Amino acid sequence: MKAKSIRTLLVDFSPFFFLLLFLSSGCQTQEPVKKYNHSFKPGEIWVDSDSVHINAHGGGILIVNDTYYWFGEHKTEGKRGNSAQVGVQCYSSKDLYNWKNEGVALAVSEDPNSDIVKGCVLERPKVIYNAVNQKFVMYFHLELKGKGYSAARVGIAVSDEVTGPYNFIRSLRPNAGQWPVDMTVEQRTSTVALADFPEWWTEEWMKAVHDGLFIRRDFEGGQMSRDMTLYVDDDGKAYHIFASEENLTLHIAELTDDYLDYTGKYIRVAPGGHNEAPAIFKKDGVYYMITSGCTGWAPNAARLHTAESIWGPWTEHPNPCVGDDSDLTFHSQSTYILPVSGKNNAFIFMADRWNPSNAIDGRYVWLPIQFENGLPVLKWLDEWTLDVFDDLKN
Ligand code: DGJ
Repeated sequence: MKAKSIRTLLVDFSPFFFLLLFLSSGCQTQEPVKKYNHSFKPGEIWVDSDSVHINAHGGGILIVNDTYYWFGEHKTEGKRGNSAQVGVQCYSSKDLYNWKNEGVALAVSEDPNSDIVKGCVLERPKVIYNAVNQKFVMYFHLELKGKGYSAARVGIAVSDEVTGPYNFIRSLRPNAGQWPVDMTVEQRTSTVALADFPEWWTEEWMKAVHDGLFIRRDFEGGQMSRDMTLYVDDDGKAYHIFASEENLTLHIAELTDDYLDYTGKYIRVAPGGHNEAPAIFKKDGVYYMITSGCTGWAPNAARLHTAESIWGPWTEHPNPCVGDDSDLTFHSQSTYILPVSGKNNAFIFMADRWNPSNAIDGRYVWLPIQFENGLPVLKWLDEWTLDVFDDLKN
């Protein structure tokens, strides 16, 4: 009796039931309204073509044909999101304002014995193209899981396709058993050691750092390698530029022709200067490198260094930022400098506004590099387009 009445009900109300089903399924398939970006808005949420905030922190860009590929750290929510839970994310764009998520280019490993096991620290990935082997080569700063920032290694991964998947090859400390070309015989053979200094940061200790105290300490096992970038020069030679020697001194190290190893030739830049976050570009034969000081996730004043040869000598100049918050690099830290395709002397300063308590919410600060009196200058802009480069006298 009860079963019969339910059947009757279903028959009587079936037209309404199907109408309801149709309407609700229609709502579900409706595409969300896509936001199209027409400009850069430094420090604001920057959505990709799926309307999701771009997740590519500490990143760099590779141009392939007419497409830009942005690689960066995939961060997750909360404090834990500062360690690598996913890997390196890749986005593509034709206009630099609108980015399509191309997925995970290099995935962290589930294998607890892998150097890049989930939970390691994997920062500042950069990708370059090696024409000799027709491979895309990725370098990144790697800290082994559970060891804080003590490992100070570089990781290398390779792919046949720009968007990946990249295969992790190995991690290492660069230039084991090699002296920097700019270290004198006296400095190389000095017997002054870390044990001679009960206290760090004294005048004597600073002098010893300048004279290669940490180079000698790490000579056998390889030099420390933290914040980093890659640079390919006009002649195809590639360089790994990284914070070494306990973040006290930058190294510029030449890579082999396949970009998979070091030739053993390297120099020290600003010994004891405490620089990290290196970003480099070349204009009219001069190399310009913007760096930051070392204050963890907190921003500080940017520094500028120039040289007429990648091998130096490198000269330090005042902070290239001007205006409000210039002493904090507009609350950001350099990661890469992008030469814009098809525009002459158009360079974009790319920086991160970190949010260590909710890593995924880190923002991007991109600003055009202007030249004044022959040196790069960075000025805050709330919003800008690539048209600004047409008005600059770079
Ligand atoms: C500053 C570096 O530039 C970042 O990449 C990151 O390593 C933080 N330090 C960690 O404190």
